[in-house]
Amino acid sequence: MSKYKLIGPISQLISMRELPIKGALKDENLHILENAGILIEDGNIKNIETYSDLLNNYKALDLEIIELKANYVCLPGFIDAHTHICYCGSRAKDYAMRNSGKSYLEIAQAGGGIWDTVTQTRKAEQQELMYGIVKRANTHLKNGVTTIEVKSGYGLSVPEELKMLRAIKEAERNTEADLIATCLAGHMLPKDFEGDHETYLDHISTTLFPILQEEKLTNRIDAFIEQSAFSPSNILPYFEKAKSMGFDITVHADQFSTGGSEIAVKMNAISADHLEASTDNEVKMLANSNVVSIALPGASIGLGCSFTPARKILDSGGALAIASDWNPGSAPMGDLLTQACILGTFEKLSNTEVLAGITYRAAAALNLQDRGRLMPGMLADFNLFKTDHYNEIFYHQGKLVPSQIWKQGNLIYT
Ligand code: NIG
Ligand code: FE
Repeated sequence: MSKYKLIGPISQLISMRELPIKGALKDENLHILENAGILIEDGNIKNIETYSDLLNNYKALDLEIIELKANYVCLPGFIDAHTHICYCGSRAKDYAMRNSGKSYLEIAQAGGGIWDTVTQTRKAEQQELMYGIVKRANTHLKNGVTTIEVKSGYGLSVPEELKMLRAIKEAERNTEADLIATCLAGHMLPKDFEGDHETYLDHISTTLFPILQEEKLTNRIDAFIEQSAFSPSNILPYFEKAKSMGFDITVHADQFSTGGSEIAVKMNAISADHLEASTDNEVKMLANSNVVSIALPGASIGLGCSFTPARKILDSGGALAIASDWNPGSAPMGDLLTQACILGTFEKLSNTEVLAGITYRAAAALNLQDRGRLMPGMLADFNLFKTDHYNEIFYHQGKLVPSQIWKQGNLIYT
């Protein structure tokens, strides 16, 4: 088999290569390459030009030619920079109770909330968790999501967090999607921990962090800064310890109250996620930093809360990624493109801003430099949609799914 593949002609190819990480993006400035071809060498993009130019310029190579016979629009593989798809159990009862007007406290008293998922997840063997991740990752993959961040955070003890992170690592070997693991042991104070918030976090950072590095389970540490979880002053020393050990920091920030994004900026975190409660003050602070803001419309839809002020973030010059937050509690839907399009309608985002949020800006939120744009040297991760105009993809709000999904130069779904 040839090590070179040439795919085309593609009616419209959107590479995103010229677009900046920060700030608003207008559809008028989006570069669309028509009648394009993609030349792949060993899973990476070697070149993107018009199909006829590639055919001519590379005819000396032993090319495997994949000729497309219909109109296709090509977009970079989607990247979901925030999920909790490692879990067991359902929280359908929480959803029903919430929609019947029950409070957070009433739901927790009825056995719901994050602790319910912790209880269910702790009961599972690593292998059962692994199968659950693979199933959800493959569902994402069929919708064009080729890179998926996956958090722990339903273990909340050293052995249980390790079980989750080992399950994520094992799942990575059983799906074509790339999984990026994150340790969210700082999700809430476990009910069975004998000690306060600070003692718990200190225990996690001294005992768990070194094992994460020894076993190469993750280089990312996340925490939930909120009244029901951890305060900014609890988290500061925890993050400082993580940073001094070389971990990247990411934060569940400003979901219901402010305080989290300030810590994200102070700690030079890679991303601050949620931000539904951020005021103009936080928006400005984030825009003046290198922290990527991540909107999680799936949580707003799941909880019936307001959306992250995405328009304001972009207009202030911030970097905005969009992720699904797929989890059994607040965001059970898990459909990234649908949610990104819905955020677009409510926040008046251009299609380019929506697309940037689930491609190269999501890559920046994960500190990944090898994906998110289609250009030479990047991974050949891309989606082909059977349509003649890229606007159709956003217009259908997730109902138009890719006809072909390519991961590292291989056609994995058609
Ligand atoms: O990102 N905000 C905190 N954590 C999750 C919800 C997790 C859960 O409810 O199980 C979130 O929305
Ligand atoms: Fe989350």
